[in-house]
Amino acid sequence: FAKYQPTVTPDLPDRQWPNQRLVKAPLWVSVDLRDGNQALANPMTVEQKLKLWHELVKMGFKTIEVGFPSASQVEFDFTRRLIEENLIPEDVTIQVLVQAREHLIKRTYEALQGVKQAVVHVYNTTSIVQRERVFEKSKAEIKAMAEQGALWVKNYAQAAQQQSPVSQFIFQYSPESFSQTETAYAVEVCEAVMDVWLPTPENPCILNLPATVESTSPNRFADQVEYFIRHLPNRASALISIHTHNDRGCAVAAAELALLAGADRIEGTLLGNGERTGNMDIVTLAMNLYSEGIDPELNLSNPDEWMAVVEEVTQIKTHMRHPWVGEVVYTAYSGSHQDAIRKCLLKQQADEPWQVAYLPIDPKDVGRDYEAVIRVNSQSGKAGAAFVLEQEYGLKLPKWLQIDFAPVAQALAEKQGGVISHKNLYQAFLIHYALTE
Ligand code: KIV
Ligand code: ZN
Repeated sequence: FAKYQPTVTPDLPDRQWPNQRLVKAPLWVSVDLRDGNQALANPMTVEQKLKLWHELVKMGFKTIEVGFPSASQVEFDFTRRLIEENLIPEDVTIQVLVQAREHLIKRTYEALQGVKQAVVHVYNTTSIVQRERVFEKSKAEIKAMAEQGALWVKNYAQAAQQQSPVSQFIFQYSPESFSQTETAYAVEVCEAVMDVWLPTPENPCILNLPATVESTSPNRFADQVEYFIRHLPNRASALISIHTHNDRGCAVAAAELALLAGADRIEGTLLGNGERTGNMDIVTLAMNLYSEGIDPELNLSNPDEWMAVVEEVTQIKTHMRHPWVGEVVYTAYSGSHQDAIRKCLLKQQADEPWQVAYLPIDPKDVGRDYEAVIRVNSQSGKAGAAFVLEQEYGLKLPKWLQIDFAPVAQALAEKQGGVISHKNLYQAFLIHYALTE
């Protein structure tokens, strides 16, 4: 096991995060069109990007990272299309990514010409491994790259505003691979960037803290965020943004804990598409909030619509057990689960808090029907069949009949090799008891 060592970060003491519970939604940023897109075998075309853009707007995203316009013609053209065809609603801000390199920053502002409001997101990497092995630069040199990048971003913004006075720019800086950077050094670099931009509480900049590669546990990441926030001079002049990836499968947990540690804003993608194991899944985090009675400030109530668009443009099928929206996540196969669900659903009043065993939320809230809640298969007990017959066909079976009919339903499921449809179940019931409709 000597091959792997814990991530080298400063030895932070365990911290007292300011919050124990989330009470409101963070500011959401969709990076589907950038981070999500750059991870696809077949990156999206302009038309596909437009399709997803419209869906993201409809769902209520107020900031959307639309691409890396200096990186390719498609990215540039898509940004132009949004601006030239006036496709950006008044209350939506586009965000564009760029490295801290002058010609790329210049090209980025060309793509943004005439925009009303945009976040210009500049980054350079700060982690130990990248400094030492990729860039072969000292801490001072990496910090100077960040300062220089910030200066170009500011100067080209001034030039762009002279050409187009309607344009407002918000500046965002990411110390890429923040979680693998010494946290005190990340503070130092961000402070230097702020010294260039001179943000104020009224006009804050954004400091985005990425777990570019998730390499530590969620609590350690949150410790880093908490330390960063506590030590950042002029914290009131910066929005603290979080950008986690899912290498250890904990991107959502890390983001949630980072919010508890004081972050304001979350970048992620729908269903977690993104580099390698993906970005933080906004759907899961938003629904986690929803299930605790917090308004996620995103409309996720129609997954059949937005999932179809995401699946079409990414060509990635959503796993059937994906949290909150997978095809079978409101399905109970086991008899004891079905029995418990049936009892709870029959007792559930419309005006009381949701209290149904095995169903963390009302499936209707995400456009799912009760029909999908219970399926009868060879493992089902009496309750599943009884529930379906009552809910869908108005047949209220007395207990003795439930017990009597259960083996018939199970035998049918075994014969059909799995799940039986509700219609087949109903017909089997009629035939078995020689009934007619
Ligand atoms: O994961 C990452 O670090 C990024 C940055 C460019 C923000 O995507
Ligand atoms: Zn990323």
